[in-house]
Amino acid sequence: MAEEVRIVLRNYGKIDPLNIDDYINAGGYKGLEKARSMSQEAVIEEVRKSGLRGRGGAGFNAGTKWKFSYRAVADEKYVVCNADEGEPGTYKDRIIMENDPQSVLEGMAICGYAIGSRKGYIYCRGEYPYVVDILNQAIAQAKEKGILGDFDIEVRMGAGAYVCGEESALIESIEGHRGSPRFKPPYPPAEGLWQKPTIVNNVETFANIPIIMEKGSDWYAGIGAKSYPGTKIMTLTGDVVNRTFIEIPTDVTIRQVIYDFGGGIREGKKFKAVQIGGTSGGFIPESLLDTSIDFDSMGAIGATLGSGAVFVMDETRDLVDVTERISKFFEHESCGKCAPCREGTKRMHEMMTRLNAGQGKADDLEQIEQLGSVMSRACLCGLGQAAPSPVLTTLEHFRNEYMEKLG
Ligand SMILES: Cc1cc2nc3c(=O)[nH]c(=O)nc-3n(C[C@H](O)[C@H](O)[C@H](O)COP(=O)(O)O)c2cc1C
Repeated sequence: MAEEVRIVLRNYGKIDPLNIDDYINAGGYKGLEKARSMSQEAVIEEVRKSGLRGRGGAGFNAGTKWKFSYRAVADEKYVVCNADEGEPGTYKDRIIMENDPQSVLEGMAICGYAIGSRKGYIYCRGEYPYVVDILNQAIAQAKEKGILGDFDIEVRMGAGAYVCGEESALIESIEGHRGSPRFKPPYPPAEGLWQKPTIVNNVETFANIPIIMEKGSDWYAGIGAKSYPGTKIMTLTGDVVNRTFIEIPTDVTIRQVIYDFGGGIREGKKFKAVQIGGTSGGFIPESLLDTSIDFDSMGAIGATLGSGAVFVMDETRDLVDVTERISKFFEHESCGKCAPCREGTKRMHEMMTRLNAGQGKADDLEQIEQLGSVMSRACLCGLGQAAPSPVLTTLEHFRNEYMEKLG
């Protein structure tokens, strides 16, 4: 039986999140102290060697990203914490921020020291007003103690657009513009907020940093899967007995997540599929459940780890219907900036609606596959690129469900 390993959530339920002294007494801010006794390069190298990869979905090595901004020459640099958490079924960042906000501030301050930035922003989704309140109180306490030094942190609220979780759209939104993605390159570490070098990392990524600094990269690199070390917080939803969150080493398998931690399928029904990583995640059939949840293993089966959302579906679920609803979500959330996404998500939803209503033709399946393949290559940002994934993976693993619905 697999077991939880709580690294990011080590203080969960043990400290008062609104009392900075509790955090300090539990060992908090030792990581920042240690970082400040090291050179900036040494801090970045420690993070890089730990193997920590971004927990927001793209899985980029955090230390390597920091190095780009450290090397960039500029009068200002910024640290941005992505707390948009717009992915349906995902609430891990909320759990971290609600229960241990200082760990996020400490991670950001370490990043600020490492790259030479004096200003950080937390971009928090507008649907979390109480989290914004907690963060503001935590920042005020840290400032009062002078613990952040000359590093300042401000909270900015999003307004509910899914695309604003995409880092360049998020940057546009902080600048006060409409949230739509930028053309890349240049990437934010070189040219981000107000065209200055900017590190955007996820809440969970930052929350890992203090303990990595404190315990060292070797310790961290030894946990979980080699290519994606550490732990991952997963949020379980759907037809699973325990709808809960877990923090597990990254070498745990999908089957263990569903059966050991999730307690199996509700009402004694049979498993049909699981979608991991949020709405754009691929659908995984029973035959692939022994895959480990780490970023690369998931990629190898055409799925994603993404945000860590785990949406379990039992034998009674109509996957064509589920996929149609997802395609509607993407049509709604497309920002409209690029044609392949603006038009593609609309046509995809149209075809899915037809198929789901039993009015589709065999040709539609081919057209959907073609459209999905074009979108995944031609769309400007990850929203449009990943939007076809649920359709394409259900067609690959559950084609019979589509065939049964053809008119
Ligand atoms: C449509 C879309 C939505 C995204 N939403 C989020 C989000 O809510 N939170 C997040 O951390 N990353 C999100 N990302 C990923 C970010 O663009 C970026 O990769 C991430 O913030 C980088 O941090 P990390 O390296 O720590 O993962 C999203 C990406 C896309 C394409």
